[in-house]
Amino acid sequence: MSRKKIVAGNWKMNLDRVKATELAQAVAGRHAEAGSVELVLCPPAAYLTTVGTALGLVHAVSPSGVTLGAQNMHDKASGAFTGEIAPAMLVDVGCSFVILGHSERRTLFGETDGMVNAKTKAALAVGLTPIVCVGETLEEREANRTQAVVTTQINGSLAGLSAADLEKIVIAYEPVWAIGTGKVASPQQAQEVHAIIRGLLGALASPAVAAKVRIQYGGSVKPDNAADLAAQPDIDGALVGGASLKADDFLGIARAFA
Ligand code: PGA
Repeated sequence: MSRKKIVAGNWKMNLDRVKATELAQAVAGRHAEAGSVELVLCPPAAYLTTVGTALGLVHAVSPSGVTLGAQNMHDKASGAFTGEIAPAMLVDVGCSFVILGHSERRTLFGETDGMVNAKTKAALAVGLTPIVCVGETLEEREANRTQAVVTTQINGSLAGLSAADLEKIVIAYEPVWAIGTGKVASPQQAQEVHAIIRGLLGALASPAVAAKVRIQYGGSVKPDNAADLAAQPDIDGALVGGASLKADDFLGIARAFA
């Protein structure tokens, strides 16, 4: 089963308007280096329109093929939710993707699997592709609880989705101990969990559906460790934080998956 590789840049709360524009233009201008790898840029919400313009988006499609993603959203369509952003608003400003349940959202902002589940359904309902993040802490890994934690997160975050919806989503396995720490999971450690996740998707839907779902690895991915990760059978791309802030590094990672 060949799955289209997908490399997404999670810019987190970084850059300013000028730098966001320059980075988006640099990636779009050099997208051919990534070959058939799908590239997604996820800037801070304040710069979604700026980056969309820099990419030349028309109805979420850019001439370069680089698409736009958000880092979070609310699950309700509208209403009295001060400070929040509705799913349809993301579509309106040109997003195709939305990162959901990132570990920083889970640990710093109290997001639960139930909330991620509601957001995942809301994203799918407006045609956004959710990038659903899961991953264990160092403490959980050392207590041999990785499989249990990831199982709870996958089953909770994806509860009630139809097989047709499951097929559309992207999963990001991001061990919390590897995010922003420079400690990347070994390709074997990552592959082992990716295979577990694919098995869980198989149980939720069917092995045929699971075989279609793209599972990204995230956590200290850099150009020099990306090739070994990309060589693993169940690693279908990367969710990149720090290294996505430089066009050279982001494209270097994308080339490794090409
Ligand atoms: P990192 O972040 O690449 O800086 O480790 C990854 C992420 O949080 O998505």
